[in-house]
Amino acid sequence: MMSLKSLKLGLAALAMSTSLASAADVEVLHWWTSGGEAAALNVLKQDLESQGIGWQDMPVAGGGGTQAMTVLRARVTSGNPPTAVQMLGFDITDWAKEGALADLNIIAGMEGWDDVVPAALQKFSKYDGKWVAAPVNVHSTNWVWANKAILDELGIEPPQNWDEFVAALEKVKASGKTAIAHGGQAWQDATIFDAVVMATGGPEFYQKAFIDLDEEALGSDTMKEAFDRMAVIRSYVDDNFSGRDWNLATAMVINGDAAFQMMGDWAKGEFLNAGKKPDEDFLCFRFPGTQDQVTFNADQFAMFAQGPEVGKEQAALATAILSPSFQSAFNVVKGSVPARTDVPNDAFDACGKKGMADLKKAADSGNLYGSMAHGHANPAAIKNAMYDVITAHFNGEYDSETAVAELVTAVQINK
Ligand code: BGC
Repeated sequence: MMSLKSLKLGLAALAMSTSLASAADVEVLHWWTSGGEAAALNVLKQDLESQGIGWQDMPVAGGGGTQAMTVLRARVTSGNPPTAVQMLGFDITDWAKEGALADLNIIAGMEGWDDVVPAALQKFSKYDGKWVAAPVNVHSTNWVWANKAILDELGIEPPQNWDEFVAALEKVKASGKTAIAHGGQAWQDATIFDAVVMATGGPEFYQKAFIDLDEEALGSDTMKEAFDRMAVIRSYVDDNFSGRDWNLATAMVINGDAAFQMMGDWAKGEFLNAGKKPDEDFLCFRFPGTQDQVTFNADQFAMFAQGPEVGKEQAALATAILSPSFQSAFNVVKGSVPARTDVPNDAFDACGKKGMADLKKAADSGNLYGSMAHGHANPAAIKNAMYDVITAHFNGEYDSETAVAELVTAVQINK
């Protein structure tokens, strides 16, 4: 805890540095390039612009942020890091370890972030006792998005377990529609795997395999069963899935070409951006068998240090991001839920309200787990090695037994 005296001194220093600093643009590296994501980003841009801070956009397309992180590394290596960067979980920790991130403790202290940001997020927002990133939201990956008209027509209720899910997929397939809209990119395959592993092995297994990286769990029959289920899912995907962007898969559900998509709640941003309404046009429910769990990821903005003091524009961005009114306005559009526990749910639609209630319940009951696919279970080196195995299996390169063995090896090598 910072003493009042040091807080006051800090504030004075910040006031001095901000008044001396020339008004600068904020340069923001992010991967929010789909329609729904861009609409949400606009809320942030406009907030800053209303304070006289210009926005230099640095978008790097590619869901999940893998490409964005590659571009970031190149920018930092060439000595020209952007002012602020969208980042996930362990990537923040990795950059903080390198000493690259600005210290946001003064702003965090002034604004009481410690009291309102959930502990599961603070684990990644802080390094060595210092706030190094400003959390924008909480997303989660164990969702299914469904076209309501198709389900109504075929008499399908939201499935509650794996067998019911397979029966529903079979019904859709028999009707001639695509059962599962999917984009064959490694991070999307892994996003499904988050939920499949949770549903197949339960929360303790998920913890052991993905977070503790326990070899026995990674090499177990349960993991083999999870891969077997991935092969079942693969059999309900259309022929053109390879390389498809996630938002184009969402569009298939929006347009009534496919019944389901298993994707994080950023998919909701696409439905809303297309003028669709929850419970009327689309349904949101937890991946069957994971109704009590939440596999989360949170987008945060890390500020790259430009000198001993945090920049004026960086401070303004961090303050804007944590403001309760912004957290509501932004997350309503993005599909995520607020990164503060004190934001009312009034402005949120049915899926958003469910997302907020699920998160609280999961956090209170020990059912909140970091998403492996989105960098909140283990560092990028391991995550990427897991991606390779999951994708090779999804594309039929490995059978389930080989995939299990490769997963164990991938973790051994990269741990
Ligand atoms: C991010 C989301 C983003 C999604 C798809 C996730 O890793 O957390 O904000 O919408 O990737 O691009």
